[in-house]
Amino acid sequence: MSDQQRITVRVPAKINISLAVGPLRADGFHQLTTVFQAVDLYDVVTAERAEGIALAVQGPEATGLAADDTNLAWRAAALLAEAGQSRAGVALHVSKFIPVAAGLAGGSGDAAAALLACDRLWGLGTPMAELDALAARLGSDVTFALYGHTALGTGRGERLSPISTTSEFHWVLAVASRGLSTPSVYRELDRQRQTTGVPADGAAPDRVVAALQAGDYTALADAMGNDLQPAALALAPELARTLEAGVSAGALAGMVAGSGPTCVFLAQDRATAQSIARDIQASGTCRFAVAVLGNVAGARPATLPADQ
Ligand code: C5P
Repeated sequence: MSDQQRITVRVPAKINISLAVGPLRADGFHQLTTVFQAVDLYDVVTAERAEGIALAVQGPEATGLAADDTNLAWRAAALLAEAGQSRAGVALHVSKFIPVAAGLAGGSGDAAAALLACDRLWGLGTPMAELDALAARLGSDVTFALYGHTALGTGRGERLSPISTTSEFHWVLAVASRGLSTPSVYRELDRQRQTTGVPADGAAPDRVVAALQAGDYTALADAMGNDLQPAALALAPELARTLEAGVSAGALAGMVAGSGPTCVFLAQDRATAQSIARDIQASGTCRFAVAVLGNVAGARPATLPADQ
């Protein structure tokens, strides 16, 4: 058993540098080929010993988020307790800095952080392969949040292979004043594909992977792309102005992040990213814009137990 009374884990947001959406599967998910990258915008999840499961959510991006058993962090704790046959309880506390329903996998990140924090708190020592499997049951992006950095995701996004890159990547996130529901964006893509007859190809993002490995920003700007973008733009047409604002501000490329409505822009360096963020913010086409660094680690305890 662990003698830890309290564990704090921080977990990054993710972007999809490339998101190729294949056909709709019988289980209701789409076959994906995607390149994930973790960026340094973090939620912080603290787990403390308690009776039963309790959850509190606060922070600048907590508005409207349920703090009950529908929250993925709560579900992660319950799933781990069941899988580890643990009767221990936990009081989870989530500090939200990653915007909700923004295409940045904030909820998935909280679930990954809760899995890791409860595993430590309860002293379960669950092997990583088992945590992976639990993460995949919670959501398509939860596994990536455990690992972070840069990875190719296949299946419904939960099967990962790391992409090694030693370069730093500078991005700007332009966060919209409303959220978009992920299922509705996928449904809209299916609707558009039915109407236009354009097949779902889900091609492998070889050029993106090569550009990442080479640290070649120009090639990356040219190759990045998101099959969900037309669907997100149909549901939130105002994003076209945000995308224009980022490119006029000097971004190498811009696109919708995941299922949106956040827009993500590639910048040459940190100073340029900061100036692009200021310009997008000044354009009034988003709620806020922030420069972030890509290729950071996934969910990690902020303080390690003394014996590790
Ligand atoms: O796995 P997650 O809970 O994040 O998925 C949310 C929703 O997004 C799914 O219910 C599904 O509608 C859609 N989705 C999908 N194909 C994927 C991932 C997500 O259709 N590969």
